[in-house]
Amino acid sequence: MTTATAERTVEAVPCFERDGGKMPVLGLGTFQSSGEACRNAVETALKLGYRHVDTARMYENEVQVGQGIRDSGVPRGEVFLTTKLQMGELHPDGVRTSCENSLRELSTDYVDLLLIHWPEESVPLADTLGAMVDLKNAGRTRHIGVSNCPVSWLEKAIKSTDEPLFCNQVEYHCYLEQGPVMKTCHDHGLGVVAYSPLARGGVLKDDALARIGRKHGKTAAQVALRWLLRQTDVIAIPKGTSEEHIRENIDVFDFELDHEDLATIGDFDHGHRLIDPEWAPEWDT
Ligand SMILES: NC(=O)c1ccc[n+]([C@@H]2O[C@H](COP(=O)([O-])OP(=O)(O)OC[C@H]3O[C@@H](n4cnc5c(N)ncnc54)[C@H](OP(=O)(O)O)[C@@H]3O)[C@@H](O)[C@H]2O)c1
Repeated sequence: MTTATAERTVEAVPCFERDGGKMPVLGLGTFQSSGEACRNAVETALKLGYRHVDTARMYENEVQVGQGIRDSGVPRGEVFLTTKLQMGELHPDGVRTSCENSLRELSTDYVDLLLIHWPEESVPLADTLGAMVDLKNAGRTRHIGVSNCPVSWLEKAIKSTDEPLFCNQVEYHCYLEQGPVMKTCHDHGLGVVAYSPLARGGVLKDDALARIGRKHGKTAAQVALRWLLRQTDVIAIPKGTSEEHIRENIDVFDFELDHEDLATIGDFDHGHRLIDPEWAPEWDT
């Protein structure tokens, strides 16, 4: 561990602020991270200065995420912890059960953010969000929000509750345009949490990003993250399991992309969606 990185504190990573809460704009993703590798990644990340971890019922790793947090020695109150509701269980009883199962497996009294993982037609949004608000009022989650919502779903969600929604977590990287979702989030004060911010590893093969990186003494992955994090109210949650990746991904706050870099990335084809399961809603074009 280098001293400089080890001494990084939560204050060093800027935060997105909403509804009285502060979410560090760089967090650790844990999709397809499992077992000891997941526990170790969470522990390593927190020891390196991360204070934001993203999981979900669907990832089946909440036990390891919780253990990693405890093993890091970082007080629970310093970690912004997100989980997502069990898919297919968005009726009020399902919401309560999903959240309580998450809390039990994470071994914590509350999460910082509880998200609807994917919008579903089968249950009225007002019912799902109503149950989430009850959990918030009971202190089981500090904030509530949504994921994978195109504009139509996002607007419906915003209208379905008086409670502020914290964010919309969506796929966002330099190969996928998210203009309409970004505008709606900004208009209503929600954060845009960028998942698959490294295009699931795709940015590493990009010669243009590598070239920009060399100019700044950074890697292609760091350039891809910087490009996201220079945008207002955008939060990125790269998954990493090796210490090298985890360390690299948080070391992105000491350089700026210039006009030439931005023009190069602006010329990329921005139409590549990587996560598009059969249950996905109709995306914005
Ligand atoms: N809400 C949703 O529906 C949804 C959907 C997908 C993802 N997510 C969230 O978003 C997180 C991130 O997305 P993702 O996991 O799909 O993809 P990602 O973060 O774009 O990419 C992860 C891949 O990049 C590699 N990597 C990480 N840092 C690297 C670096 N500095 N240099 C080289 N390779 C690097 C990782 O390898 P190693 O693991 O070997 O380090 C892994 O193979 C997820 O983990 C999850 O928490 C949410």
